[in-house]
Amino acid sequence: MNHTGESENNVFWHQSAIKKEDREKQHGHKSIMIWFTGLSGSGKSTIANALQHKLFQKGISVYLLDGDNLRHGINKNLSFTAEDRQENIRRTAEIGRLFVDAGVVVLAALISPYEKERLNARALFQQDEFIEVYIKCSLQECENRDPKGLYKKARKGEIKHFTGIDQPYEEPKNPEVVIDTNKLSIDDSVERLLSYLLDQFHLIPNAKE
Ligand code: ADX
Repeated sequence: MNHTGESENNVFWHQSAIKKEDREKQHGHKSIMIWFTGLSGSGKSTIANALQHKLFQKGISVYLLDGDNLRHGINKNLSFTAEDRQENIRRTAEIGRLFVDAGVVVLAALISPYEKERLNARALFQQDEFIEVYIKCSLQECENRDPKGLYKKARKGEIKHFTGIDQPYEEPKNPEVVIDTNKLSIDDSVERLLSYLLDQFHLIPNAKE
């Protein structure tokens, strides 16, 4: 094996014999990271899942990294302190980077409440590879929906560090897309994202229909 990379702490980077571009060609489309951020109950997972399904039906190699699901496995040792959320975002972004390198369209749906951590995630990707989607929804509406009954528990003090209640959510400063789920239905949200991907990345026409 050639050791072509720089050594850091005696660990070397091994150059892959297959380039990302080769993999993208094999998949028939560009690989990108679509990062969904927003409050719990805003609709991130639902919209990301529906979008994933649409893309899959169009022959696109796609995978969803859902925050709740990752916390059942790779991130199960992490809590909701600011420090652990930072690690949650870092790991998920690194996993996403591997997927993008593998030629896959990857969707990540995490609250990811801090701008700094989202910028760190973005920094792992090329400029045209990272799309931040802010699933915007008022705290009041998320609390009304309360699909998992967590806001109720947080208000009673049964859950600590709950985003929007006793921990902050920093709105994205420069997201590529904003989807306001106070106003848009799930179907309309997905259609808006699909047309964005079509316009910006010509993602769908290149895929095998
Ligand atoms: S993140 O802030 O670290 O990005 P992540 O998206 O992985 O959060 O997980 C959020 C999910 O965990 C929520 O949808 C909710 O179901 C659950 N959850 C449990 N405790 C909390 C909490 N204290 N704050 C926010 N979400 C919580």
